[in-house]
Amino acid sequence: MPLAGRRIVLGVSGGIAAYKAAYLARRLQDAGADVRVVMTDASTEFLGEATMAAITGHPVLRDLHSHPESVSPHTDLARWADLIIIAPATAATMARLAHGISSDALGATVLASHAPVLLAPAMHTEMWEQPATLRAVELLKADGVTLVGPVEGHLAGGDEGMGRMVEPEAILEAAASLLAGALSGLRVLVTAGGTREPIDPVRYIGNRSSGKMGHAIADSALRLGASVTLVTTSEIPTLPGVERVVVETAAEMEKAVSEIEIDVAVMAAAVADFRPAQAAGTKLARTDGPPEVVLEANPDILAGVAGRPQRPFLVGFAAETGGIERAVEKARTKGVDLLVANDVSEQGSGFSVDTNRVTIVWPDGSVDPWPQMTKQEVADRLMELIVAEFGRRGASSD
Ligand code: PMT
Repeated sequence: MPLAGRRIVLGVSGGIAAYKAAYLARRLQDAGADVRVVMTDASTEFLGEATMAAITGHPVLRDLHSHPESVSPHTDLARWADLIIIAPATAATMARLAHGISSDALGATVLASHAPVLLAPAMHTEMWEQPATLRAVELLKADGVTLVGPVEGHLAGGDEGMGRMVEPEAILEAAASLLAGALSGLRVLVTAGGTREPIDPVRYIGNRSSGKMGHAIADSALRLGASVTLVTTSEIPTLPGVERVVVETAAEMEKAVSEIEIDVAVMAAAVADFRPAQAAGTKLARTDGPPEVVLEANPDILAGVAGRPQRPFLVGFAAETGGIERAVEKARTKGVDLLVANDVSEQGSGFSVDTNRVTIVWPDGSVDPWPQMTKQEVADRLMELIVAEFGRRGASSD
């Protein structure tokens, strides 16, 4: 059972559904989870702190400044948690979380944590349908937060409609599936961005890769429960749980990759094949005339990973212009399990844009063209494919 032995922070905010949080805490414990509770002030109008302390056997965190066990209780809990569940999550709590407002113990704990967050919204229909709430939902989802519910049913004050919190059993199921991500326990490496090879301290040989494709893959792998290391040249954001190693050159990328143990590697970086053999120590002057830049080969990082004694499941990318014939050759010769080819000369595909149209190429030469999608959709579908193929490879090597 994925909940056994897992550390869960249960956040309770101020709505009538708060009374169900007591039963939820009990059910989580029955499933083997270790539960700590954080309550907002408003929630204590509906549910006693003493009830939650008695059920869990631990003091409730409500006031950051008068917790009996710690001087920094929110960061302690944030680091301790494998999962944060907020049930009920009111409109006010969701609005605060969407904007990173940490003015109470619950907001501060969520903001300080890298654990996945599961919200069970509960509010009146009108509040759920307000543009402000819908905006908060979008922001939270984009940050990787998972929502379960709400559903239609009885609401406070005798009303009926959409906005009722799902039952504790549904929250339990959602929590279990979040903690049992298809890649949980696996180490995933993603490379991203374009390397920069210095000519002098100011200029470099580079390419147009923004890192968007690789960063989307890192987020997707994290959502599936993997422990993700992203070796990247890009500063664009990822989900907070992704461990990021920022590099600039191919040599730095190779060194960072060589130090990481991997079960699955997805190499989306655009690595410069050549670098200036000698980078000038000072800025080259125009008055000295055009410099002669002698190039030498960079290490093939993907080949290094493919040659490891414990070869991980290996996915390469291929940036091509005008057809994928060369990608088919790379899939056959580079020791990958599959290759993702994209034609970077096509509109809406390749470098820097938010969409991509890729073709999956297998080492035996068979191909599977996918339609144009957002890079996040490509990443999610690719990770699904990797999960299926990785599972098959594991099964056949038993
Ligand atoms: O970053 P974005 O703006 O979102 O753009 C995404 C992308 C177009 C960069 C991405 O989708 C992509 O195609 N990445 C691979 C680009 C590339 O360098 O392809 P390649 O055919 O040159 O290399 C083949 C494979 O070998 C790649 O997995 C590459 O990471 C790897 N490689 C290449 C050279 C080298 N010295 N070491 C390597 O590891």
